[in-house]
Amino acid sequence: MTRNLVVVLLLGGALMQQTCAAMVCPGEIWPDDHGKHVQAHGGDILKLGDTYYWFGEYRSQENVRGKRYVGCYASKDLVNWQFRNEVIKSDAPFGIGPRWVLERPKVFYNKKTKKFVMYMHLDGPTNPDGGGSGYALAQVGVATCDTVDGDYTFVHNFRPLGQESRDIGQFIDDDGSAYLIFESRPTKGFFIAKLSEDYLDVEKEVCFIRAPLEGGALVHYDGLYYLIGSYMTGWAPNANQYATASRLEGPWSKFKDIALPEAKTYGSQSSMLVKVVGSKKTSVIFMGDIWKPRTQWDSRYLWMPLEIGGGKLWLPEPKPWTIDIQTGETSIP
Ligand code: DGJ
Repeated sequence: MTRNLVVVLLLGGALMQQTCAAMVCPGEIWPDDHGKHVQAHGGDILKLGDTYYWFGEYRSQENVRGKRYVGCYASKDLVNWQFRNEVIKSDAPFGIGPRWVLERPKVFYNKKTKKFVMYMHLDGPTNPDGGGSGYALAQVGVATCDTVDGDYTFVHNFRPLGQESRDIGQFIDDDGSAYLIFESRPTKGFFIAKLSEDYLDVEKEVCFIRAPLEGGALVHYDGLYYLIGSYMTGWAPNANQYATASRLEGPWSKFKDIALPEAKTYGSQSSMLVKVVGSKKTSVIFMGDIWKPRTQWDSRYLWMPLEIGGGKLWLPEPKPWTIDIQTGETSIP
């Protein structure tokens, strides 16, 4: 490499670092307040007061073998994230065995019980010798905590509505009602289900959508529900889809592409839709994961403001962007 090229690359890297300190840079390393890449994969956002909390799979290279972790970060602007805690750092609960899986944690706050309630996809082999598929249990796990970023304690594990459940998604409607979205392979579709009053159980089926999709993410925007899901291609990206309905119970429209299908969601997979209600605008942010199955700690995030409204939804080509949390306005300079 010539000296000039090295200088250009170094300057380019420094410029990108500076840009990403003030902007969301899809697909780049996202450093937290300690300069470490955020570990909150398959995550969710919970807003409390003026603070956003980002929870997700904490897949650091330093993790102890056999343990699974959930990370919690806090931010006031959705760009700069402060590491708070490994809110779960645990060996397999409920006797699941060492080949266990903890994915897509989602945290709800229950105003009545004042508890933070975390749902997660819990999985592992059903075979007692640990052989066979690592995704055979197909359950959810529930853990609770008295503080948002404290150490969560496992409560129980089960199959919601008695159904196999793998990818889960979280939805809190404008009236505060809390729902779990879960994919269920034998039924060839996914469920939207209401949580019990204390959020510790999945109480009631609200809707079953027959579509072979996972990574369910839902938002209520301008009188319509928009639901995004991805096809089931393991860690590999595919053309994520969306449908709309005026009631959660449905009927739901046909599924359509959220971006040009050949772009395969720009290498990402849906995880959550975040609604930012500002003084001038309501923006909806697509939160997706760019998985790196062999180096999971280096998996990246694709967050982009969606073009949404009138029953249409579109994920624009990823570029660095800014958000004004007060006004809700986003811009792609
Ligand atoms: C796709 C899911 O969305 C991920 O959360 C993970 O379960 C992978 N499949 C595993 O292959």
